[in-house]
Amino acid sequence: MNRLLVWILFACVLIGIVAIFIPYLTIPETTYSDSPSTLETIIEGKHYILTQGSQKYEFDLVDPEDAPDPIRTHVILGFNIMNETKTYAPTYAGDAITCTNCHFSAGNTLGGANNGISLVGASTWYPSYSKRDQRVITLQDRIRNCFERSLNGKPPADNALEMIALIAYLDWISHNVKGIKQMPWRGLVPLTSKHTPEKDNGAAYYQKYCSMCHGYEGEGIEENPPLWGENAFNDGAGMNDLDKLSAFIYLNMPYTRAPFLSEEQSLDVAAFIISQPRPTFKK
Ligand code: HEC
Ligand code: HEC
Repeated sequence: MNRLLVWILFACVLIGIVAIFIPYLTIPETTYSDSPSTLETIIEGKHYILTQGSQKYEFDLVDPEDAPDPIRTHVILGFNIMNETKTYAPTYAGDAITCTNCHFSAGNTLGGANNGISLVGASTWYPSYSKRDQRVITLQDRIRNCFERSLNGKPPADNALEMIALIAYLDWISHNVKGIKQMPWRGLVPLTSKHTPEKDNGAAYYQKYCSMCHGYEGEGIEENPPLWGENAFNDGAGMNDLDKLSAFIYLNMPYTRAPFLSEEQSLDVAAFIISQPRPTFKK
């Protein structure tokens, strides 16, 4: 009898101990979503420390030139396509826009002010469900979307050399962040202001802060891409969405200096740009 009691007691203590540790076993899942991420950069924006709850990741952004021999040719071609889409992917590109115009430094940045839309980690984000397409899409599908909408161009097939090169390039710039579950630099986060956009104010801000580079008619000047008109992104592009365009402008424009438009001004300019004519997305 006594022995039985001892066993029961022992079992209770054991269960108690296990119960105490259960929360610790699940900590990575539960804490990183509610605790904010902090991202520190050291050594010329190449070496990063990302802290999320109790998780700490350290990684470098990689140089396309450092890709090893077996993949190097493809990585470099992908990098060139990102930077000069029309020259290196003439069959699929639109006339005036390159991937880098939105994904600055060929997407090899961690977003934030003036760093454009990051693609570091893109290889780990797909396949995934796309609300716009209402189905699970691959990374190749997502790239085709940007060709057809953002560049108003044509979609390369999975086995096209240009596609293989872009995938190799994105794999290469993603390989150091593979273990990170939630990457805070991904995507354009909508602004929080509840301001109702005024496109007439936006037109005035556009002429004052943007037209010297993008042209009075949004047509683009040399390296500065068009924002509307026949050579611009089409009406099916992510940039034609008020949330995304205003967030992009707020963080990234005017281009050569620290961005200074308020959230409200960014919303006004974005509404003005979206109200202008552009190609229609044909599907
Ligand atoms: C100093 C010149 C300059 C100014 C001023 C400037 N931009 Fe840009 N903008 C650029 C360049 C250059 C790029 C492409 C960046 C790259 O390729 O790395 C760009 C990219 C863009 C893009 C994404 C590409 C595209 O074709 O859609 C948008 C949108 C944009 N700018 C909007 C604006 C708005 C709005 C303003 C004014 C608030 C503005 N820009 C002011 C030079 C400028
Ligand atoms: C006119 C601007 C623009 C151009 C040019 C552009 N993109 Fe994009 N791209 C976007 C926007 C906007 C998103 C969506 C970002 C978001 O979800 O917040 C995006 C998303 C992506 C994604 C998915 C990123 C994610 O978070 O899932 C990939 C991959 C991508 N683009 C590749 C390319 C490639 C390759 C090119 C050149 C062929 C290109 N893009 C040209 C604007 C552009």
